[in-house]
Amino acid sequence: MTYETLLVERRDHVAYVTLNRPAALNALSTNLRQDLKQFFTTIQAAQDVRLIVVTGAGRAFCAGADIKEWTEPASIVEDREARGRLDFREAMRRCPQPIIAAINGYALGGGCELAMGCDLRLASDRAQLGLTEVTLGIIPGGGGTQWLPRLIGRGKALELILTGRRIEAQEALRLGLVEQVVPHEHLMQAVEELAQTITSRAPLAVKYAKEAIVRGLDNTSGVALVEVFDLDP
Ligand code: HXC
Repeated sequence: MTYETLLVERRDHVAYVTLNRPAALNALSTNLRQDLKQFFTTIQAAQDVRLIVVTGAGRAFCAGADIKEWTEPASIVEDREARGRLDFREAMRRCPQPIIAAINGYALGGGCELAMGCDLRLASDRAQLGLTEVTLGIIPGGGGTQWLPRLIGRGKALELILTGRRIEAQEALRLGLVEQVVPHEHLMQAVEELAQTITSRAPLAVKYAKEAIVRGLDNTSGVALVEVFDLDP
């Protein structure tokens, strides 16, 4: 299957998906969200794919929602419904395979949320991460309010979300937002090594270990997100 905004390659039981809108720093346009939803829906049923790697083309992982699309007027309800129809996060959450984010550059707003929606995060030493939404007058509505405190604790999550501050990869590592920071030119090699190690382990053990961890940690986040969206005007 080919996509307008994604590059997909399968190698050694691993599916590599690259967000491919480098001129827009891989911002999440409607097309890109649609493609991601299709990709994650398709790949979750692919028995021969045991791990997924998500990365970005060019100098960004993903600069978040496509702000340029926001100039088209839409009522808040229409906009929320449109986003819901295209929501790739649910498809991503259903993937039994571990998902590694190879954070090759900026991961901001919805891009940081995309990284947090992955199971493991390896970052280039050039990466910058942040939930910058408050600087645009919105909240991190794509899972960030739930994932960030689970990863780094309530206080630090509040500090980062309420200020919208961007952090460097090394700070993200200290906080536990990423698992490894790797010199930029070695990022994909480090990701491939980790992918190979995981895919060399017993597939069912890997699958059920992920499921047990995710279900245990995640069983309230869906509720919290619904409650937050209910507060929207
Ligand atoms: C659309 C974007 C974009 C975005 C960058 N671009 N971010 N287009 N949506 N989110 C485009 C720019 O307009 C520009 O296009 C090109 O990418 C390069 O960006 P520059 O700004 O020129 O690059 P630079 O000076 O290096 O700055 C990089 C940057 C900055 C720091 C990442 O682009 C930036 O702050 N972007 C916005 C990041 C952000 O706030 N994201 C959160 C969005 S809110 P042209 O055509 O001019 O060359 C969000 C909510 C999610 O994500 C909610 C989920 C439900």
